Amino acid sequence: MGSRWSVRPSRGLLYDACESARKAIIIQQLGNTGLGEQRRATPRRVAILTLGCKLNQADSEAIGRQLGRNGIEVIDRPAPADAYIINTCSVTHVADRKARHLVRLVRRMAPGAPVVLTGCYVETVGADIALEAGADLALGNRDKARIADHVAALPVANALPTLDRRAAHLRTRAFVKVQEGCNDVCAFCIVPKTRGREVSEPVDAVVREVQAREAEGVQEVVLTGTQLGAYGRDAGNLRPSDVIAAVLADTSVPRIRFSSLQPQDIVPELLALWDDPRLCRHFHLALQSGSDSTLRRMRRRYTTAEYTAAAERIRAQCGDDVAITTDMIVGFPGETDDEFDESVRYCAGVGFAAMHVFPYSLRSGTTAAKMPDHVAAPVKHECMQRMLAVARESQQRYLARFTGSVTPVLWEHRERDGAWSGLTDNYIRVRAHSERNLRNVLTPARLVKVSRDGFEGDAL
Ligand code: F3S
Repeated sequence: MGSRWSVRPSRGLLYDACESARKAIIIQQLGNTGLGEQRRATPRRVAILTLGCKLNQADSEAIGRQLGRNGIEVIDRPAPADAYIINTCSVTHVADRKARHLVRLVRRMAPGAPVVLTGCYVETVGADIALEAGADLALGNRDKARIADHVAALPVANALPTLDRRAAHLRTRAFVKVQEGCNDVCAFCIVPKTRGREVSEPVDAVVREVQAREAEGVQEVVLTGTQLGAYGRDAGNLRPSDVIAAVLADTSVPRIRFSSLQPQDIVPELLALWDDPRLCRHFHLALQSGSDSTLRRMRRRYTTAEYTAAAERIRAQCGDDVAITTDMIVGFPGETDDEFDESVRYCAGVGFAAMHVFPYSLRSGTTAAKMPDHVAAPVKHECMQRMLAVARESQQRYLARFTGSVTPVLWEHRERDGAWSGLTDNYIRVRAHSERNLRNVLTPARLVKVSRDGFEGDAL
């Protein structure tokens, strides 16, 4: 892995020195290339564009707050801004491609604005290669904590007037990082390399963070991590249930979502916390394959029987309306037709509310990259189609059971056609037309008609 910190190659240097020196050097480097000569103002509006998982969302929100403390307005879409931060993912080669594509898109849209590339793509390819995509500055995940200082110091041509800062910051849902890193060694996964070893946030720090978001009016907090089930392993005897229990006890945010777990994490003391209706009835349990031999080669730490047992424990606690969602990889090296058929049959029987299906993507430096019998692209494509059909059918079957029911929806934003869009606690996307301003409001809604990925409904 290359350096995690660099400016464009033409500016020539990689830095690992102390922070103040880094900042001074980067301003000097930008100045040397002419950027500094043309740009005298400092940024007043910065766009943060986020790719990847909820952990990256949490990072972007933290960067946004850092910028806000520096008096900078933050937007989260590719709209006019003085500078752009692109927070990238590298979980597949498609994610890498998206990162490069977004840099080019921003360059075309705002040719004069500085572009900062950060996140897992920078970690995977190294800062030098990351900069070849066309950014001015590349920073790894570990530099995110100080990214706002670098950005606030960037010289820009003409600082844009700020918009309504309150409106720009008003959010319905906040992502709070409780843990980062992974000590596991799943054969396909690059994330331990991009996020490092497991580190848990102290319980009181998480509680303070949730309280701060609550004070801002956020209605839903998503507790996120690379490997949430590992929460506390690095900090004595703490467990995931400890941090959730503390958040339930010391905050009153209406909804708390725990973003993702593995079957072995679904233990009684954790599930018992779901007696509290503020915890969303939504469990994301990444399965990856429904074939035990494939799971073994993937080095996952559960069998399909254990997965089934975990799903049963969840349903016994939360009822059958609970959403169990998952990630699947098709075309893992060595996957035979029989194994894939087995995987399809297994997935069709779980009753998933939603499945994210990915074709296996070779990540160099992982064990799977060196495995024999990589699956040919056309075969993977065919497997994708079959697994996606299972995903669609599962989702439609799950949704159908709610037709006509009334359930609370947290409304987030208006779509292009004016419909409000929001989520139920069990992660059903609902759209409804209403004259009222429903942004950040929890109301009951009638789920009228199943759509492609959710419901058309009425806000009551
Ligand atoms: Fe992607 Fe990094 Fe998350 S690789 S999935 S953004 S941890």
